Amino acid sequence: MENKRRQFLRQACAPVLMAALGIPVLEACSSEEDESPYGASANPEPKGPVSIDLSSSTFSSLNTVGGWMNYLSENLLLIRISDTEIRAFDNACPHQGNRDGWSFSDNTFNCKYHNNSYENSCSGSLTCYQTSISGNTLTVTR
Ligand code: FES
Repeated sequence: MENKRRQFLRQACAPVLMAALGIPVLEACSSEEDESPYGASANPEPKGPVSIDLSSSTFSSLNTVGGWMNYLSENLLLIRISDTEIRAFDNACPHQGNRDGWSFSDNTFNCKYHNNSYENSCSGSLTCYQTSISGNTLTVTR
């Protein structure tokens, strides 16, 4: 009789103990491959240097000073600073890593998800990469 009682308590208490410790019982059934609702893990981490053909219409916004783009397929935020400089940042928001909610105004990138703003400086919160321009080719080293 005592053994049956102990067995019952052991089986019944496990979920109660997990709940009491704040461990969601159903979490063990979820996949670790679940995506962020904001697409934060939509693209893999940076792989290496990127060469960009600035004469391509895809990058026409970078032809004028102040022009910018979110180059999602390479996880880059790009902005033309001057005739001779384009800055490149990782497009992962420093807050929660979302990559697809950017707008730009007053020298500041704004992330729509929680309305945080980040300066377009390499000494700010955004991860800045080294860039160089040779002819029509922009090279981003990461
Ligand atoms: S993820 Fe960008 S502000 Fe929160």
